[in-house]
Amino acid sequence: MADRLSDSRFARRFGLSTPIALAPMAFGTGGALATTCAKAGALALIGGAYGDLEFTSTQYSAAEEALCDTPEALARLGCGFITWRLEEDSSALDWLLDREAKPAAIMLSFGDPTALAKRIIAADIALICQVQTLAMAREAVEAGASVIVAQGAEAGGHGMNALDGRSTFTLVPEIADYLAAKAPHVQLLAAGGIADGRGLAAALMLGADGALVGSRLWASAESLAPEAAIAQAVAADGDSTARSKVFDILREKNWPAHFDFRALRNGIHREWEGRLDELGADPAGAIANYKAGVEARDYSRAHVTVGEGTGLIKDAPSAGEIIAAIDAEARVLLQ
Ligand SMILES: Cc1cc2nc3c(=O)[nH]c(=O)nc-3n(C[C@H](O)[C@H](O)[C@H](O)COP(=O)(O)O)c2cc1C
Repeated sequence: MADRLSDSRFARRFGLSTPIALAPMAFGTGGALATTCAKAGALALIGGAYGDLEFTSTQYSAAEEALCDTPEALARLGCGFITWRLEEDSSALDWLLDREAKPAAIMLSFGDPTALAKRIIAADIALICQVQTLAMAREAVEAGASVIVAQGAEAGGHGMNALDGRSTFTLVPEIADYLAAKAPHVQLLAAGGIADGRGLAAALMLGADGALVGSRLWASAESLAPEAAIAQAVAADGDSTARSKVFDILREKNWPAHFDFRALRNGIHREWEGRLDELGADPAGAIANYKAGVEARDYSRAHVTVGEGTGLIKDAPSAGEIIAAIDAEARVLLQ
């Protein structure tokens, strides 16, 4: 049987040894994590997130420099952004599009990709679009995406709200069927809850070409996240997260209504999750309490951004070890 991992379409398209992409996680995926993942054979997407030019250029350049002696790994380096935010300030994307060495891919999530897609495709860079519904997958195909990431509601961080959200287990095969019929050249990654080899093998069986992994790689030695936050996630089980607008209000992020945020369901989340209107109407006191929690690294008040897969995370070794373990377990299961 052919090697379903290194011979997968996704691995071949980006020169990977395993069909895994490191998610571009805000405040998690910096140069060090991307460098380790690219060296381990995965596609490595820097967390350009809200499009901060200084952060993106510093972290991206650090990875470029660390990978300059390994061109095959450098060719796996890319970046991801939050679409609606880039519509307000695209300076980080402008900087990236001007690089002499082109990024392997640019990923857009959370918003209509159509306008920005044109610029990325014109620069001859592969466009990856993260979507949460079938309608969004159609929109991404029309925008010219080379790869679609089907993100289920299990995922850590932002995603579709509870009313409209889909689970990975149904969203991936439905989009796989749609792409097979209408756009067979477009590849598909599964995202949301994939934290071990079982998840990667399942993603392939559901019809994906690979998996985008966030939470599991966030909990790694190279992550930008504070060690104390990672320790909270390692100790938590999968029942311990929740999806809501609480932390967007507390962080004063102006997210579009249909997206919300999965994180550990800590004390401050429980305090406000049933009173969102009240929180939105007069958030000042709660915001001050939240900010003091962040300052003190008190995770009953500060957020820990992790998905349901947190229950599968028992340690925080190097990302290279994590990728090797996911790959090895999936290989055995797929034999
Ligand atoms: C800490 C953290 C930060 C994230 N930040 C972003 C982001 O800035 N942009 C983005 O497109 N997705 C972001 N995501 C979502 C990921 O792209 C991906 O969909 C998700 O991590 C997959 O689910 P998993 O966490 O179960 O692996 C984030 C996820 C986490 C855990």
